Amino acid sequence: MNILIIGSGGREHAIATSVVRSPLAKQVYCAPGNAGIGQIAECVPIGAMEFDKLADFAEEKNIGLTIVGMDDPLVGGIVDVFEKRGLRIFGPRKNAAIIEGSKAFSKELMKKYNIPTAAYEIFKDADEAFSYLEGANMPIVVKASGLALGKGVLICNTLPEAKSAVRSIMIDKKFGDAGNEVVIEEFLTGREVSVLCFCDGTNIKPMTSAQDHKRAGDGDTGLNTGGMGTFSPSPFYTAEIKKFCEEKVFAPTMDAMKKEGRDFVGVLFVGLILTEDGPKVLEYNARFGDPEAQVVLPRMKNDIIEVMEACIDGKLDEIELEFENNAAVCVMLASKGYPGDYEKGKEIVGLEAFNDTDDYYVFHSGTKYENGKFYTNGGRVLGVTAIGPTIKIARWGAYRATEWINFENKYMRTDIVLSAENI
Ligand code: AMP
Ligand code: GLY
Repeated sequence: MNILIIGSGGREHAIATSVVRSPLAKQVYCAPGNAGIGQIAECVPIGAMEFDKLADFAEEKNIGLTIVGMDDPLVGGIVDVFEKRGLRIFGPRKNAAIIEGSKAFSKELMKKYNIPTAAYEIFKDADEAFSYLEGANMPIVVKASGLALGKGVLICNTLPEAKSAVRSIMIDKKFGDAGNEVVIEEFLTGREVSVLCFCDGTNIKPMTSAQDHKRAGDGDTGLNTGGMGTFSPSPFYTAEIKKFCEEKVFAPTMDAMKKEGRDFVGVLFVGLILTEDGPKVLEYNARFGDPEAQVVLPRMKNDIIEVMEACIDGKLDEIELEFENNAAVCVMLASKGYPGDYEKGKEIVGLEAFNDTDDYYVFHSGTKYENGKFYTNGGRVLGVTAIGPTIKIARWGAYRATEWINFENKYMRTDIVLSAENI
């Protein structure tokens, strides 16, 4: 069948890489795609928010399955538009994608259904938030409720910092309408684990675990980013924790969404923090993580199209998810300055080293291709993933492979995995 993937990041490149391996895929398109995706699929210059144009394209090209990688179109209701036109699409409808689109919604859901999460308050009014902060313990976490490219969460150590976080989100509208509401929550400490789960509205099947490194700098310093590197599986996600999460988090979340009349079909990303009091949910996302997808999908044995079709058809119970008994590490190559200001348009050399190997992948995020050459075109530029029998060996491979690639102002964290390596 013909497939259309929607998005333009490393996650979509990882999805496309799995899709083209499936014997079920005929022609694969990606809108709008990027330079790397363009090497394995046909990129189509339609924006991810141009729902009608995308649906026209899907009809015209006889697309049998559209896969949405990004959050914005899901939260904006692309699945509803496609379904109305009788087009098959993988992802949650608007009324379910709200689990990512509104942190206020997801916190209320967790409270109502007893799903473990940080204590919190929600505010629509800045003055009320300020006066609440006066009596609150520090550190504290201030979050814009809406979508903010993974940057709308501010961890504040002092009262003035917390007030200025509320001011920038609610009054200065740093993240636009995403800051109409804020969630202020208890600061938790512990290891973070991301578990991406396939869902068919009723059944939920977790994939192998992963850990992201969100801060820009080594030693978890600097600003939060979309993600600077990942590894999979997480050695901290033990069998016991997994059982707890399946029973107390994943299944209850599915049931809660069903009871609310918001059946969730697609990938539910559960961001967990493993505290001394047990695992708690930090966030939900309504799609694959980026760069979590770059370490989880290369380890998946199943045919990705078969699994996605089972989700859409409500038959996920018939699928056994299987992952290789190995490890993967992804190191993100960014433009120096990210997530602040950075320069674009730097020539990238060395990508050909990744051809013809199954143990190394280079997933493009912000790149463009012009006159036979690749150039940087974003903050996060390339995700370099290596597979190995252990995390330690995969880490060694990933850092070795980062040396094959060069561009001016190349920046990466040098400590991806380090804190987990001796487990
Ligand atoms: P979120 O987008 O809600 O996952 O938040 C982004 C990142 O902020 C998380 O991955 C954590 O590193 C951090 N974070 C969010 N909420 C909390 C919390 N309640 N306590 C400590 N850190 C948090
Ligand atoms: N890596 C975190 C995210 O995709 O939201």
